[in-house]
Amino acid sequence: MAGVRKLFIKTYGCQMNVYDSERMAEAMSGAGYVETDSPEEADMIVLNTCHIREKASEKVYSELGRFRDLKAQRPDLKIGVAGCVAQAEGAEIMRRQPLVDLVVGPQSYHRLPELEARTRKGARALDTDFPVDDKFDALRGRPRARRGPTAFLTVQEGCDKFCAFCVVPYTRGAEVSRPAARVLEEARDLVARGVREITLLGQNVNAYHGAGPDGAGWSLARLIRALSEIDDLARIRFTTSHPRDMSDDLIAAHGECDKLMPYLHLPVQSGSDRILKRMNRGHSAEDYIRLIGRIRAARPDILISGDFIVGFPEETEADFQATLDLIAEVGYGYAFSFKYSPRPGTPAAERDQLDEQIKSERLHRLQALITTQQRAAQDAMVGRHVGVLFEKPGRLAGQMVGKSDYLHAVHVADCTAAPGELRRIEIIESGPNSLAGRLVAD
Ligand code: SAH
Ligand code: SF4
Ligand code: F3S
Repeated sequence: MAGVRKLFIKTYGCQMNVYDSERMAEAMSGAGYVETDSPEEADMIVLNTCHIREKASEKVYSELGRFRDLKAQRPDLKIGVAGCVAQAEGAEIMRRQPLVDLVVGPQSYHRLPELEARTRKGARALDTDFPVDDKFDALRGRPRARRGPTAFLTVQEGCDKFCAFCVVPYTRGAEVSRPAARVLEEARDLVARGVREITLLGQNVNAYHGAGPDGAGWSLARLIRALSEIDDLARIRFTTSHPRDMSDDLIAAHGECDKLMPYLHLPVQSGSDRILKRMNRGHSAEDYIRLIGRIRAARPDILISGDFIVGFPEETEADFQATLDLIAEVGYGYAFSFKYSPRPGTPAAERDQLDEQIKSERLHRLQALITTQQRAAQDAMVGRHVGVLFEKPGRLAGQMVGKSDYLHAVHVADCTAAPGELRRIEIIESGPNSLAGRLVAD
């Protein structure tokens, strides 16, 4: 082996990209690479990119430009672009930025070692196929690197829903579920390495329908129930769900499965039926509100989070008001909100666009409402006893930080709990971005 080389990966976008970056690093460990968190000492730099909004996409080019000096000093440095921009723009990236040696899409990164080897021979390498050989199969047997007590695990990927604003069906491809046995195998491996909490990932994770070991198609609820039998796995979460795929058995699991955490990210995007229709979401605002009611009936303390887009083409003030009304009715624990960004190749990008100023003004109003709700949800935790999974020491001596069952960041002073320990905590204070707590007897 030609000695150890160093790999620096920078990750943008969603949690699936975080998972993919880990798997890329694991794939490259077979080619003699170890990870570094410093681009200056890297032999290879990979940007794992996101295409969801224009700003996310453009970041890639400004970031690449910054590596010019590094590459001038060390011509041997290899620069790669992975992820959804790689998939969407492919060879265009190499044309636009000559520094780039390698472009690899989200479905072909198991071939990264071969591509890297080609660049070492002086070639530029591009692979944005949706190959028949599955990357998960190719990576099977490559142990998951341990990264603390929480981990992501992709169980479903891709999307067939084609919301009118969204690039994901084009960058990630058609919806595919991994076989349940493979998911269970990967989960057991993670738990054997000290992981206590697993977040199951998918662009439409609740559409999961992987082949079960018994030959039947397994739902996400069935998969969660099987995972909850892994003894040392303490917590299960999943994201992102689509309202249309929120099945009865998954709703029931929230009431019945102790390891499934009381937190659900269920984006609705808009509260106006007219806009929901134009977005091709396939449900009404009323359907969504009724669904939330059923979920809360199964698990009354569940914390709901959502995503919203403001300024979608043709959104009127009345449509926007309907979104604010929906938010007021649902009551969110968290929400992520975005100005609509027209994406090349998506239907909504061809329509008449709203002024940037209107979008900004609406975003501002929506965020003010959401901030109030988030604050209230957080403040309501004070005095309650909740589970906290400790992850690492905090900034102050003796302090430990972790996440509550409801995904709030919690810190505890003079804390005797170790990373990976799940303890009962009484919440004593609600700060701007986190809660303070103290250990109580289990
Ligand atoms: N699969 C998830 C969403 C993935 S993208 C779902 O179906 O809900 C994450 C979020 O980005 C979306 O929920 C949406 O709110 C936002 N988003 C996607 N495309 C966008 C665009 N073109 N402009 C602005 N926000 C967008
Ligand atoms: Fe995008 Fe819609 Fe698919 Fe979510 S469901 S990934 S928003 S197309
Ligand atoms: Fe971005 Fe691709 Fe995820 S576009 S949000 S990195 S699926």
